[in-house]
Amino acid sequence: MPYEDIKKEEGKVIKEKHLALYRDKEGKLHSYSSICTHEECDIAWQSEDKNWECPCHGARFTPDGHVISGPAIEPLREIE
Ligand code: FES
Repeated sequence: MPYEDIKKEEGKVIKEKHLALYRDKEGKLHSYSSICTHEECDIAWQSEDKNWECPCHGARFTPDGHVISGPAIEPLREIE
């Protein structure tokens, strides 16, 4: 299984591919672009809060990419 090091309800950014991967509680892996929709910094996974955060201006996103707080407005782009 690819990326089996990612546990359930955990996320990981693969910087070289600009991929943000999240494994849900059923074990399914979801892929998003790790490029923040504000000004294109790479987001990072916050394991304590279980969400994504952008180090540049502090936008936060749910594990499935929806905006929790700005300045980003658009959700993370899902990758099929
Ligand atoms: S680039 Fe991500 S919050 Fe600004």
